[in-house]
Amino acid sequence: MDDFLFVLGRNWQLSLAELDNCLKNSEFKGRIKDYSANIAIVEFDSLIRDKYYVNKLMELQFMLGGCQKIGKIYEFINIHTIFNAFPFKIEKFKEVDKTRFKILNVMEKVLNEIFPKIQNKNLFYAVSIYPNLFDDDYYSKILVKHFLPFLNKKIMELLKQKGAQKALYYQYPEKNIKSGNLNPIFPHIVIKYGLLNEDRAEIIFGFTEEGLYIARTFTTDDPNFKKKIDEERPFKEFKSSISPKLALMMLNFLNLFEKREKKNILDPFVGNGTILLFALIQDFQIYGSDNDPQKVENTIRNINWLLEELEEPFPLLLDDRITRIDAENLSEDFKPNFFDGICTEPTLGPYYHKQPYYNQVKELIQSELEPLYNAIFRETYKILKPNRRICIVAPIFSTIDGGDTQININKIAINNKFKSISMIDANRIINKSNQKLQFRKQNIKNLIDAKKDQVIKRKIYVFEKKL
Ligand SMILES: C[S@@+](CC[C@H](N)C(=O)[O-])C[C@H]1O[C@@H](n2cnc3c(N)ncnc32)[C@H](O)[C@@H]1O
Repeated sequence: MDDFLFVLGRNWQLSLAELDNCLKNSEFKGRIKDYSANIAIVEFDSLIRDKYYVNKLMELQFMLGGCQKIGKIYEFINIHTIFNAFPFKIEKFKEVDKTRFKILNVMEKVLNEIFPKIQNKNLFYAVSIYPNLFDDDYYSKILVKHFLPFLNKKIMELLKQKGAQKALYYQYPEKNIKSGNLNPIFPHIVIKYGLLNEDRAEIIFGFTEEGLYIARTFTTDDPNFKKKIDEERPFKEFKSSISPKLALMMLNFLNLFEKREKKNILDPFVGNGTILLFALIQDFQIYGSDNDPQKVENTIRNINWLLEELEEPFPLLLDDRITRIDAENLSEDFKPNFFDGICTEPTLGPYYHKQPYYNQVKELIQSELEPLYNAIFRETYKILKPNRRICIVAPIFSTIDGGDTQININKIAINNKFKSISMIDANRIINKSNQKLQFRKQNIKNLIDAKKDQVIKRKIYVFEKKL
């Protein structure tokens, strides 16, 4: 099998949209053949024929904000076989034995591909199970408690039968197995345990509604690198900063995949520079502005810090590129049709500790946010090249008495001659029967990034400047 398994980020819809957009528009052409809330199965048009495809996968992994790991798939087992081998309640013992034996036969072959050399080797592996949805009963009751111990034990036996000197596996905490509440190992553990080496492996068992994909991890996100940039930079302010992952995803929605070193990117609400720092490591030409001089100073110092960390030369014109400008006047300071992309999170209003009243939010939207967003689209239209995109965050306020309340960004953008871009191409994504996994046509124009019970949620939009 020549397909690959992508482990998606926490916000799986946004991660899937980012991946689909990238497979459609970047050099990594391909399509998502199947997915769940945790994984995507990808068939590339030609990547597999590239001799150095693992290096290419590493490039792709580095670029994506919503991808935790990429694995190569070796086998697929139909979901009915799994249900027969591991039912909720065992009634037909013979059937269970027979189908478990079938699974072991598959594993026997897969192990030769995962470990090219087994004889006399000391091998180590970690089994990671990604269910269709983490809150499925089948995951907590069957996969964690029965399937995982079965795999751990049987893989060890098979490797020993094949001549391994030693075969050890990663042991998850017993209390998590007992409670059924288990997370597969995180990328930093994959790195820490050296599971990308030849004699050590993370074996992924990824479920979708269709069945089980068995893969070996080839590349993983390096969260320590992102965390370092996010947390160790001299100036940070977590309550108003977007996450590194979201910054990367937003940059990818601009659809600027080639010759990034020649593409001019602007964040006109630069704050402490999160978006620009990640645009810098993605090789973009970065520009930023803010109406607060302190923020401009912070961003410049953060960028200098990052350049020093990366041992890169300092660009001479940094002070000209990061400047104090009110978003209402962007076109007075930047040249017309100069930018290839704009990526930004404007002020989302006051930081509410608890839910506000509907009237409070309505007043805020009418008096401050609508005029501000109107100015943003009016001004960015002038400085953006034709057919280029803006990826922008807007707030959704959860109110005490009026439910979720938001600005009509679409209307404002369209009035300023932008067109709305779907974040995921519904025609390229297969249908799922589980409602939680469906993309509804009306909901794909924008996607939400928020934790449960957050008072202000971020909604991500993409617009393109019409000619
Ligand atoms: C939500 S913060 C952006 C945070 C940024 N994404 C980060 O991660 O650091 C919004 C920024 O917009 C700036 N701002 C507010 N109103 C502005 C305006 N009219 N023009 C330009 N900047 C403005 C604020 O000073 C603040 O730094």
